[in-house]
Amino acid sequence: MALRIGADNGYQGLMNHETLNDPLALARRTGWPEDMRMLLLRYPRERWETHANLGGMARFWLSRHAMFRELSALIGTITGDFREGRLAAPDFPGRLVPRLQFLLSQLNAHHQIEDYHYFPIFRAADDRLARGFDVLEEDHHAIHADMARTADATNALLRAFAGDADAVRRCGEDYATASGALLAGLMRHLDDEEDLIVPLILDRGEDALGVAHHG
Ligand SMILES: [Fe+2]
Ligand SMILES: [Fe+2]
Repeated sequence: MALRIGADNGYQGLMNHETLNDPLALARRTGWPEDMRMLLLRYPRERWETHANLGGMARFWLSRHAMFRELSALIGTITGDFREGRLAAPDFPGRLVPRLQFLLSQLNAHHQIEDYHYFPIFRAADDRLARGFDVLEEDHHAIHADMARTADATNALLRAFAGDADAVRRCGEDYATASGALLAGLMRHLDDEEDLIVPLILDRGEDALGVAHHG
């Protein structure tokens, strides 16, 4: 079936640590602890947009994050509309699947670039922030586990449409739980990633860090 979601995203991060007991694990934290907010205090969000050091790399990267937030909100709305009966079952796959598939594939590419290109550069720039980049990379693993769960739950729901209403209801709940966890984790991750990286870029400049886009 053309609408089947690809579950195997082939993600390979650099790290694979046990995170169950980490207080900074994605599903537990509500932001960065005090000792990792020094630069954020100097460069609060309301000053980012007009700061001279917010260059092409940071602007493009933030625009990718904005796209992920927009797509996530749309998927959340489609899911809510389906569950509350505003979107009929026959119309649901056509609305959801292309958007979810796009989100999953774009996240995969985005995380690879961060893990292999940007994070090593930022990690080397300031020892005090190294722990933060370990946490962000662990987030990627957690998000990819949630992506796989969401893909599986979506496929199960698509298959259930051929059967009885009970199966649709049950699979609909599983899908909503899995996609809800994915989107909530992603929102936390995007905010924290920006809070760590943008102040560093504003403090040093993209050229000095070696991340500027040229040409
Ligand atoms: Fe990330
Ligand atoms: Fe990111």
